[in-house]
Amino acid sequence: MKIAVVGSGLIGQAWAIVFARGGHEVKMWDGDPKAVALAFTLIEKQVADLEAAGLITDPKGLVSRISGCTTLEEVLQDVDYVQENLPERVEMKLEIFAKMDKLAAPTTVLASSTSSIPASSFTEGLAGRSRCLIAHPVNPPYLIPVVEICGAPWTDAAIVQKTWDVMQSVGQKPVKIHRELRGFILNRLQGALLREAFRLVEQGYVDADGLDVTIREGLGLRWSFMGPFETIDLNAPDGLADYAHRFDEMYQAMSTEQTSTDHWSEEIIAKLEAERRAILPKDQLMARRLWRDRRLMALAAHKKAAEST
Ligand SMILES: NC(=O)c1ccc[n+]([C@@H]2O[C@H](COP(=O)([O-])OP(=O)(O)OC[C@H]3O[C@@H](n4cnc5c(N)ncnc54)[C@H](O)[C@@H]3O)[C@@H](O)[C@H]2O)c1
Repeated sequence: MKIAVVGSGLIGQAWAIVFARGGHEVKMWDGDPKAVALAFTLIEKQVADLEAAGLITDPKGLVSRISGCTTLEEVLQDVDYVQENLPERVEMKLEIFAKMDKLAAPTTVLASSTSSIPASSFTEGLAGRSRCLIAHPVNPPYLIPVVEICGAPWTDAAIVQKTWDVMQSVGQKPVKIHRELRGFILNRLQGALLREAFRLVEQGYVDADGLDVTIREGLGLRWSFMGPFETIDLNAPDGLADYAHRFDEMYQAMSTEQTSTDHWSEEIIAKLEAERRAILPKDQLMARRLWRDRRLMALAAHKKAAEST
């Protein structure tokens, strides 16, 4: 299969790794020619790290399947699937999708990586709107496999299925979203947890580090191999319904204190920032990000080994 990556920033270059790792030929283009050259440098580094972690075996072969293009016309020529990765602004998505719809062959799938903008916001007026949809990754997609697949009301069901199949074939874990909503599923869940975390610190129940420990050494330990429904299914003797009946009262009572639509206040942002900077000075942020990626690689290797047993 031939893939086009449109926009080769952080997410575009990571997608190039995913598709090339899956054995596909990948063409990459960016509005800034320097960005494509930089993407190749960064891809080589990321691929070397993946090899060192035992997650790939042929880094040279992987990189050789990726090529750079100098125009949008060139990158869209003769491809089956396009993954768009321009900045998160609706007017940019409108412009690039209008151009791509004119230039790409009518059977080519046009997918956007947008984190929160529903496809209906930028594809409504297009002749080929039925082949447009969202394939939302998590950064970096070569280490975190979930991809949210979400069509507009006019997206052809066969295109949704084809995108799901493409993702499955390259080792990602696609999830179909049945109806459009802002932020899709992953960021809705992250948003709900963050809102409660901000509130608990703001109201003085816990400090930022205590909250992070609660997730890191508590809830989060299970989350790398099971979701919240499987968790509660296993946490009552007779399964999920038993759990729901035992704890409904408790969760319902808590929920009355958990609803609010306020912005995060500048005071709480400053308090959390100060607490984080005392734990991790600003000049150590990049080193810690690299540490996070190494931990993610070790976890990905562990999950791969666990899945094969
Ligand atoms: N970064 C993340 O964690 C993350 C996660 C999931 C989804 N996404 C989504 O992926 C998309 C890209 O995000 P990113 O983090 O890679 O951004 P980025 O800034 O790293 O990359 C954007 C790229 O688009 C190029 N570009 C800008 N304007 C252009 C134009 N008019 N024409 C052609 N190219 C242009 C830039 O040169 C840059 O290389 C966004 O929609 C974002 O929401 C990002």
